[in-house]
Formats: sequence, structure tokens, C-alpha cells
Amino acid sequence: MRSFPTGPGHEFSVTLARGLTLVRGRGSRVWDDQGRSYLDGVAGHGSLILGHAHPRLTEAISRQAAVMTSCPVSFGNDVRQQYLAALAEVAPPGLNRAFLCNSGTESVEAALKFARFATGRPGFVSARRGFHGRTFGAMSATFNPLYRRDFTPGVPGFAHVGFGNEAELDAAVTTDTAAVILEVVQGEGGVHPGRRAYFRRVRELCTARGALLILDEVQTGFGRTGRLFACQHMEIVPDILCLAKGIAGGFPMGAVLCADHLEPPLGRHGSTFGGNPLACAAALATLRVLTEEDLPARAATEGARLHAILSAIDSDRIVAVRSQGLMIGVQLADRAAPTIQASQRAGILALPAGRRVVRFLPALNMDPTELEQLSTGLAAALTN
Ligand SMILES: Cc1ncc(COP(=O)(O)O)c(C=O)c1O
Repeated sequence: MRSFPTGPGHEFSVTLARGLTLVRGRGSRVWDDQGRSYLDGVAGHGSLILGHAHPRLTEAISRQAAVMTSCPVSFGNDVRQQYLAALAEVAPPGLNRAFLCNSGTESVEAALKFARFATGRPGFVSARRGFHGRTFGAMSATFNPLYRRDFTPGVPGFAHVGFGNEAELDAAVTTDTAAVILEVVQGEGGVHPGRRAYFRRVRELCTARGALLILDEVQTGFGRTGRLFACQHMEIVPDILCLAKGIAGGFPMGAVLCADHLEPPLGRHGSTFGGNPLACAAALATLRVLTEEDLPARAATEGARLHAILSAIDSDRIVAVRSQGLMIGVQLADRAAPTIQASQRAGILALPAGRRVVRFLPALNMDPTELEQLSTGLAAALTN
């Protein structure tokens, strides 16, 4: 029988060859196929907000798997309805329409289509250093040429402006602009939190020029930054909010929340698996744990503590520590990859954000001592 080999050279998508095969996880600890354990500061690229194998999530997925896994949205479904009701309770005010999908890039793709549909305009404005995904629309919104250059041409109509630069935005948003799409904290671009005054200006400008504001909270959503949604720090509400990653605690899912005034493109956009009962059961359990245990507040306090600990590392290789909640970036003077590999050898998993930033996106319920160990491991890796 033929089988596909795995690993660098064989897989179609490897960003940083880790040389590690993970087989099991529990909370914030993972084990490899040699029985070695690691502290997980990657947490499924920030999706495992409750850690690995959380009992409430495991129970919800197992129970639902025995009842019904897939159910197209042309049919109602009890679990989907329960989840949408629970999501509506916590959604930013006025975002009362939802489209459910399966990933972050799909949520961005849908948001871009909805914006063109609602405005009849072709153009988009996004930010330099921004990251929105790897399908064609999301890739075109993404700035880093690394993700685009081998796949040109992208979707036409995208302009990129400096993140935080009001004058550039003012010049770029015209009567042809369907939407401005931004992350509230740029993640992949190096963990750069946005300024409140800037986001307020973006909101005003979009409203004044008839362009929609899409906030991509795929990485920042569901408590990561210390509020349930990062736009709450900015005290603004977008017209469209993109969600994924932590939404279902690591089970694949995405969502787009839209303002009431947007006409939904009924029947013109859809997804076979979007809103499937298995994902909805996982999302419902995740949201319940997140709110019952007030994990966004925990992310705020523990994130601030970890920021202080990391800032105290005595290393001239650290240029800056940037964070919002438990979204943390340590900017180095040199390449991040060797330090990430050295941390891994010391039993600590981190991920890059661009070439020079070591990023931690741990579970929001990670134990305080384990959070400190992330810093100790990084400090050790930096001196090696
Ligand atoms: C802000 C942002 N948008 C979109 C995406 C794409 O999400 P996915 O990998 O689920 O397609 C990511 C992934 O890292 C992200 O950080």
C-alpha cells in the first residue's frame, strides 16, 4: 500500500521545520513520540485557549460525535441554534448576523465578499505588516510579500497603508473602497498592538466615506488580549468581525459577525461544513468555560505579569517586549528561529512572528508557574 511520507520536503506546508512529532497533550503540556514533554507556548497557534484535552471540551465533542456531526445550514440544528444564541449574548453590540465557517482565512474571505456585496465597491485597504490568511482574498489583504510573491496575481483592488498612520489611511479610503480590513493587534507581523485613537479615527473615516470596517480578530478574539474581543479595548464596533482560532478551543471553526444594516448575500456564499454541529458543540463548551472562568480577565493579569518577567530578562539580544494580554512578542536583535529551536531543546515551545520576534500564544488558563517557565526557558535559550 502506498503512503505519504511526512516532514520537510514532503508536506505542502511547513513554516518552520521543528523536527518534532507531537502525539499527546494535556493542559499546557505536550508529549512527543519519544515520551519527552514540552511546555506549550504555541497552543495550536493560539487556538487551544483552554489547553489540550480540556475535559469539558472533550466531553462536548464526544457527546456530539455520537449524535450528529454534519448538518447543512439549509436545515436547522439544535446545537447550532444554541451556539448562535450564546454567541449573540457576548457579541459586540449591533453585530447580530452571523456566518459560520471553518477557519480564519475563510472568515476573511467571506468578510471581503460580504463587503463588496453590501457596498457595490471594488476596493480594500489593509495594513502593512498585516496578516489575514492564505487564500486568495485574504492573501491579497496580507502585506508580507513572502506570502504573495509566488502566487501572483492576487485579487485586484488592495492598497496597503502604514498601521497607525492616519494620513495614509485618509488618502487611501475613497468612494471606491468597500472596506478597510485591520487586525487590532498585528500578530504574525510581530505582535504590534494598535492605538485607541487610531482605531477611533479609522471607525470615523469609514463611516464618513461609506466604507465598511472589517476587524480581523482571528488571533485576538475570544479572550486572547484580555477582553473577549480586542475591539473592546478600542471602544469601537466594526461592521464585520472575523473570528476563528480560539472560537472552538482548537476544533476547526470560523465565524463572521455582521452589522444589522448589512444585507446578507443569501444563497450566494456558503460552506458545506460551516456551522456543523460538532464544531458548534465544541464552540459552545469553549464559550461557557471562557465566561464561567473569566479567562479574558485572567489573560489580562497573567499577560501583564509575563510581560514584566520577560522584560526583566537580562539580555542585550532583546530589543523590545510587546504584548496585549496573553499575546506576547519578544523582538530580538537577530533571527528568532535559532532561539525558538534552542527553547524547544530546553522543553519550551514558542513560535515566530516575522523573522525577529519570538511569540507566545499560550492557553488562557495556563498555570502561573508554567507561564514563568516560558520566560525561564527563553532566557536560557538566549544565553546559549
Ligand atoms: C489575524 C489572522 N487572520 C487570519 C488568519 C488565518 O487563519 P487560518 O490559519 O485559520 O486560516 C490568521 C492565522 O494566523 C491570523 O492570525
